[in-house]
Amino acid sequence: MQVEHISKEQVFADLDRCAASERTLAVVGSMNADYTVTTERLPGPGETVNAGPLTVLPGGKSGNQAATAARIGAKVHMLGAVGDDANADFLLGRLREAGVDVGDVLHVPGPSGTTVITVDSHGENTIVYSPGSNAKVSVEYVGGHKDVIAGAAVLGLCLESPMDTVIAAARIAHEAGVKVLVNDSPFVPELPADLVANSDILLVNEHEMSQLLGIDEPADGDWDAVDWEAIAERMRGFGYDQAVITLGGDGSVVIDHGVCHRVPPVKVRAVDTTGCGDSFMGTILAGLAAGLELVRAAHVAAYVAAYAATGYGAQASYGTADQVRALFS
Ligand SMILES: Nc1ncnc2c1ncn2[C@@H]1O[C@H](COP(=O)(O)OP(=O)(O)O)[C@@H](O)[C@H]1O
Ligand SMILES: [Mg+2]
Repeated sequence: MQVEHISKEQVFADLDRCAASERTLAVVGSMNADYTVTTERLPGPGETVNAGPLTVLPGGKSGNQAATAARIGAKVHMLGAVGDDANADFLLGRLREAGVDVGDVLHVPGPSGTTVITVDSHGENTIVYSPGSNAKVSVEYVGGHKDVIAGAAVLGLCLESPMDTVIAAARIAHEAGVKVLVNDSPFVPELPADLVANSDILLVNEHEMSQLLGIDEPADGDWDAVDWEAIAERMRGFGYDQAVITLGGDGSVVIDHGVCHRVPPVKVRAVDTTGCGDSFMGTILAGLAAGLELVRAAHVAAYVAAYAATGYGAQASYGTADQVRALFS
């Protein structure tokens, strides 16, 4: 495993490159309004429990990825769908505030995507996802926005949209020579061959990787003792020469054509790691759009995602380049 020493100054210079780049990144996928309540303990079937005040925050993996990239200054084009409810304005308004181009987002009848989240006093949660408008991001819709996808430097995809749509978007990008980064989340154990063939880089967290490759997570949580070269070989067999595995507070590993790079975590006082994975992915997209190598983009992402761990919520916790720089200076 390679451990490059990339200085903070270098990372900050790379962060500036993300903001300065004229090349657009496209994200096709989900936007959700996250309804969260905190309870002493999770209710059982048929049971009613009291909760603290409801919070409604903008989320959805793709929306989050777009928001974090735009916050650090990247040019971001979001493709997806909202409903005709009040959450539509809420979601688009927050993305616009972050700097995301939402001009081509589809408006459909019915509710926008929502999640209903209950968190107990131990931080354990239950999440119920109602796709709403996210289910209506169709093959026809992405086909109608070929220009946006083909004109981007890189495309980001997650699996909160219909699989046919995800594959169609990947295919459009791939045929146009646009790099495709796929986040296998929500986790699907068998990615369709068409998706693998039309994408370049896989991004998963440690649990998703373990399930995907059928390997045991190290019992002591020591990911440095794991044979990453063997994992790189397995990933290659799976169809990816390039992959990013995030390890929560332990940082990440970047696999790039057989070479494994250890990207150390950036130490912060974490208060809520919701949306850190999306912040990491969005920043990788911004880095790739700016022409950074994958591992260099991951070093930037480690800082941006660590910043996100210091605030509550997903999009609500994402920093601008100045805020990220200020926290670590
Ligand atoms: N407690 C933390 N301190 C610093 N960085 C963190 C922390 N938690 C997450 N991160 C950063 O965010 C990235 C993604 O987090 P991770 O938990 O792996 O993703 P997911 O949210 O998909 O489970 C990590 O690789 C790391 O860089
Ligand atoms: Mg995690």
